[in-house]
Amino acid sequence: MLEVKNIHASYGKVHVLHNVSIQVGEQEIVSIIGANGAGKSTLMRNIMGLYHPRSGDIRMDGESILRLKTDQIVKKGIVYVPEGREVFPDLSVEDNLEMGAFSRRYSAQKYKSLLEEVYEIYPRLKDRRKQLAGSLSGGEQQMVAIARGLMSEPKLIMFDEPSLGLAPVIVDEMFDVIVRINREKKLPVILVEQNAFAALSISNRCYVMENGVVTASGDSKVLMNSPEIKKAYLGG
Ligand SMILES: Nc1ncnc2c1ncn2[C@@H]1O[C@H](COP(=O)(O)OP(=O)(O)OP(=O)(O)O)[C@@H](O)[C@H]1O
Ligand SMILES: [Mg+2]
Repeated sequence: MLEVKNIHASYGKVHVLHNVSIQVGEQEIVSIIGANGAGKSTLMRNIMGLYHPRSGDIRMDGESILRLKTDQIVKKGIVYVPEGREVFPDLSVEDNLEMGAFSRRYSAQKYKSLLEEVYEIYPRLKDRRKQLAGSLSGGEQQMVAIARGLMSEPKLIMFDEPSLGLAPVIVDEMFDVIVRINREKKLPVILVEQNAFAALSISNRCYVMENGVVTASGDSKVLMNSPEIKKAYLGG
């Protein structure tokens, strides 16, 4: 489904990603873990066309998206929920969700049924649909960011540190929703997480990044039991 092949990426002269390759198959949850500054968000931004790799290739369903602009990549069905849950603070919850549907030009009926679907996933957002997104709690804003992504009916959704700054009970709910989205909508997921234990627990496969390089990858259950991974990411 998504294939990142040997990409090198930089910000200006600063070379950040070195020969990075990852693959995501149909219906998989793939996690990406690694320390601060490892290059995880840079990889996401290059997949989304916010930056373009200097070499390598990125293919979606066999077709290169390497040179496409972000809006074209969104049209191909890739949605990115970035770090720091960027909602439109001065718009209501429902208007934020409408922004997610905007590029799709749905019929009124289709739009309504999608809205009901995301409200079914997040009933809290339905209760607060008229509230300005900027006045929601951090956890609720994260729900808006995820729900907005779902409104475009993606083929692949990428979450960048969705648990950051959330209380533990909210974090658990959020991971439950990610698993549910993956299972019910049969939607492949890329999950970038500092919370390595949670990421390995809910993903099928995982890539470990260090200093812009993929240093380990494989079945999440296997990685979870690897002494090196335990020592470096799971607190011994
Ligand atoms: N816009 C930018 N311009 C220049 N350098 C950048 C830019 N964004 C990130 N970097 C650098 O690229 C490297 C990788 O950053 P990146 O944000 O991809 O890391 P990360 O793995 O997402 O880290 P974190 O877990 O802290 O979010 C870091 O050294 C960072 O300083
Ligand atoms: Mg990051």
